[in-house]
Amino acid sequence: MLDLIVNRITKETDNVVRLELVKADGGALPIYQAGAHIELQLPSGKLRQYSLCRLPTSGKEFEIAVLREPSSRGGSDELHRLKVGDTLQSKLPQNHFLLSNPQASALLMAAGIGITPLIPMAQMLAKSGADFKLHYSAKSSKQAAFYDTLKAAPFADKVAFHFTQEQGQRADIRALLAALPDKRDIYVCGPNDYIHEVLDTARELGWPEARLHREFFKVQRSPEIDSAPREAFQVKLASTGEVFDVEKGLSITQTLELNGIEIPISCEEGWCGTCMTRVLEGIPDHRDTFLSDDERRANNLIMPCCSRSRSDCLVLDI
Ligand code: FES
Repeated sequence: MLDLIVNRITKETDNVVRLELVKADGGALPIYQAGAHIELQLPSGKLRQYSLCRLPTSGKEFEIAVLREPSSRGGSDELHRLKVGDTLQSKLPQNHFLLSNPQASALLMAAGIGITPLIPMAQMLAKSGADFKLHYSAKSSKQAAFYDTLKAAPFADKVAFHFTQEQGQRADIRALLAALPDKRDIYVCGPNDYIHEVLDTARELGWPEARLHREFFKVQRSPEIDSAPREAFQVKLASTGEVFDVEKGLSITQTLELNGIEIPISCEEGWCGTCMTRVLEGIPDHRDTFLSDDERRANNLIMPCCSRSRSDCLVLDI
């Protein structure tokens, strides 16, 4: 774990703060790529993940932006109460939302606080001279975090704002995608319904799945998934041959933990990717939002914190 100190707090909007975090001993922080996130351990012990919202500059600071969400599980409120000099801990940066090619043409689509991982992506693409455009949807310029930063950015001419309250309408996603000259990489982050709208529209227009990249911040479960039967099944560990019964009310990770086998977990809701495990035999019942449709169909990966099994037994690469 990294020991961090809050070095600077900037109020971005009424409900978004930007926190600059430095190492408690003043030393260098690990290098990371655009799209990376860190998992913070808050003073209360809660674990929360936040995208790093700018490329490393001096190598000595992380920057995150936190939306206060009254309905959330409590982490955002705690971060909004932090003061300069407060301490917290972080795991090393991880990245499940990498730019597949920083030199290639790209379309960045952000809504609300989903702008955070896309800013370092825009910085990276601008640095490499790539052809890209960042579309940022928000209610208004006052409620758009990083509005001033983006207006003043060296790539400001590549940013298009879509403000529903000021312009009277949402971004026309279909028109934006249809106007592109090619099926370039699309990176999207924001509320779940926005992400689904962008991805579904791109698929309808013929985008290959491999060019669609998304980062969800939380799981929005469908009623079908919530009411789907959570039958018992077994998991087998390939390394030892041990077999464990996963009871109805328990997840695979909980079952394994009860038997002394730990899989790294974080969100426990299927959106962060931390627990991703290879499946060697059996068919998973996917209940996450992390895997792409192609990855789900391949059935060789599972998020054991939330997903279950359609087979009597899953053999896991553990
Ligand atoms: S712990 Fe986040 S997807 Fe499993």
